[in-house]
Amino acid sequence: MIRSVVLGAGAALPARIMRNADFEGVVETSDEWIAQRTGIRERRIAGEGETTASLGEAAARAALANAGVDASSIDLIVLATSTPNNTFPATAVEIQQRLGISSGFAFDIQAVCTGFVYALTTADLYLRGGQAKRALVIGAETFSRILDWTDRTTCVLFGDGAGALVLEAQEGSERGVLSASLRSDGSHKHKLYVDGGPSTTGTVGMLRMEGREVFKHAVGMIADVVVDAFAKAGKTAADLDWFVPHQANKRIIDASAKKLEIDPAKIVVTVDHHGNTSAASVPLALAEAVADGRIKRGDLVMVEAMGGGFTWGAALLRW
Ligand code: UT7
Repeated sequence: MIRSVVLGAGAALPARIMRNADFEGVVETSDEWIAQRTGIRERRIAGEGETTASLGEAAARAALANAGVDASSIDLIVLATSTPNNTFPATAVEIQQRLGISSGFAFDIQAVCTGFVYALTTADLYLRGGQAKRALVIGAETFSRILDWTDRTTCVLFGDGAGALVLEAQEGSERGVLSASLRSDGSHKHKLYVDGGPSTTGTVGMLRMEGREVFKHAVGMIADVVVDAFAKAGKTAADLDWFVPHQANKRIIDASAKKLEIDPAKIVVTVDHHGNTSAASVPLALAEAVADGRIKRGDLVMVEAMGGGFTWGAALLRW
């Protein structure tokens, strides 16, 4: 049996830190409101020259270094993003070129905040199916560029960044992606969307969200896919070493973990210093927990996310 085994993880963040207090004077808000309602204290905002491709490239280089493998050995790049550099070509192809890779293939996946879970499971299928041997799975976003900076209900929530994993197809390994569960339901489209696009307005558009409506569905949807991914692998929350959720809101993370009976000490939380980085949030959190020694080889790790579409999904990995 072939498994997609994680060889390394890496991350990249824009240089500029924007703290909650920096919003005072921009919109009518306060550090206290943002911190209490979301758990966010600061986020990174891309500056001139920092793009989804440049951040994705930097995260990919960090993951390759962590894995100890050369870019030339990569034959698949799957990039999860809703903020590509251009409408086309895929930003994954630009990252492929920036990394100096001239073989294999690269493409983008668009599932908003669930993008990384979709990208991971997609790469897993290519690796297990023998279409590729070594993959980069990247989540990279510059949501600051699609925010309405006059709308306090959304602009305080998001940040920019990128995270990446290197995966390799290995025969007979106990490690790797063990199971996954993906869902989507387009009937919720209007609750979280961008009000523009190439085929409608001909503009990029801005993010619009009915936050309370998203919140209402989030915990139940997350719990459903996590339970399903555990069941498919014959595992339970008691077996888990690390829960690495999408980082949208600390209250959603805590309520999901409580419902799933996951020990709070096993949760990786980065929302306080990253904000919601959409498809980048899970790989950023994974890379941070690998770098500081929390996630170790052999650990059982559950990742999950929920977002625009709605889309939601979870994947269980033996690290
Ligand atoms: O990653 C994709 C998935 N996205 C999410 O998971 C986001 C899910 N939603 C959330 O995280 C939360 O719903 C929010 C953080 C967006 C909002 O928290 P909430 O507790 O649901 O607050 P609310 O929307 O019910 O708003 C409460 C009040 C409102 O005032 P009124 O109507 O009670 O007078 C808002 O106008 O807070 C007001 N408000 C603000 N006040 C200060 C909204 N945004 C702000 C703000 N500063 N930035």
